[in-house]
Amino acid sequence: MKFAILNSQIIERSEARVDVEDRGYQFGDGVYEVIRVYNGRMFTANEHLNRFVKSSASIGITLPYTIEQLTQLLEELKEKNNLQLGTIYLQITRGVAPRNHPFPTEEIVPTLVAYTKEVGRPVESLATGVTTILTEDIRWLRCDIKSLNLLANLLAKQKAAEEGCFEAIQHRGQDVTEGSSSNIFIVKNGTVMTHQSDNLILKGITKDVILDLCLKNNIRVQERTFTLDELAQADEVFLASTTAEVMPIIEIDGKKAGDGQPGPVTRKLQELFVQEIERQCGNL
Ligand code: PDD
Repeated sequence: MKFAILNSQIIERSEARVDVEDRGYQFGDGVYEVIRVYNGRMFTANEHLNRFVKSSASIGITLPYTIEQLTQLLEELKEKNNLQLGTIYLQITRGVAPRNHPFPTEEIVPTLVAYTKEVGRPVESLATGVTTILTEDIRWLRCDIKSLNLLANLLAKQKAAEEGCFEAIQHRGQDVTEGSSSNIFIVKNGTVMTHQSDNLILKGITKDVILDLCLKNNIRVQERTFTLDELAQADEVFLASTTAEVMPIIEIDGKKAGDGQPGPVTRKLQELFVQEIERQCGNL
């Protein structure tokens, strides 16, 4: 039997139901997180929960839980579901109210939901790399909020899937922003580059771990916008996310990325990333 969190309760997953007038269901009026679990331990849980609080606050949802309470609840959920290797999905919506665009004027209780999923590491793709397509970034101007409104991301990902590709690399005109569910990195002459964390991208937790690993290991790094031309001329390209880790990109729109194989800096960062996982969660 599997369990889920509904508000502050851990209940049987099949019993976890939300109202049809939940604003998350009707408007996507909420935010979420995906947290990785390795060896039964959460990876970068604090960073995810801090971003969760920040995302909630930025749309005016006051979390009725402290980070400590959320951590406790998620730990309990993970234990009850005996999750060793997988993810925890966590979301909060503004709550249930008669459908009307403005926020309800009466006090409503935000709906908190969490559940777990068993997901292995994508070891094969990590070894070989993945293929991608390019697509115009048609999202709104607050991509820093981890909002439930993922329609534009879904359209981009679907386009990639239809081309048999793993990810869609989004760009606003000439500027590369991020993947549909990942951050994008290039390497040129030994320098790692990725879009600065502003309103146009999600400040990925994996991205931040990678930037930190670069600094600690004397790998030159620049957080700045890079163009489609720079992407095309990069020595190496990779993407990063909670589930994809440090994933080499070997093809973009049918053309080789770099020399069409995972590059040495990407390989080094994969190695350092695994060491960081093992430092926090034990040997893989
Ligand atoms: N996606 N950018 C976007 C648009 C994302 O959706 C994600 C994560 C990232 C990487 O963030 P992080 O390193 O914190 O996972 C960047 C998650 C995994 C998802 O929606 O499933």
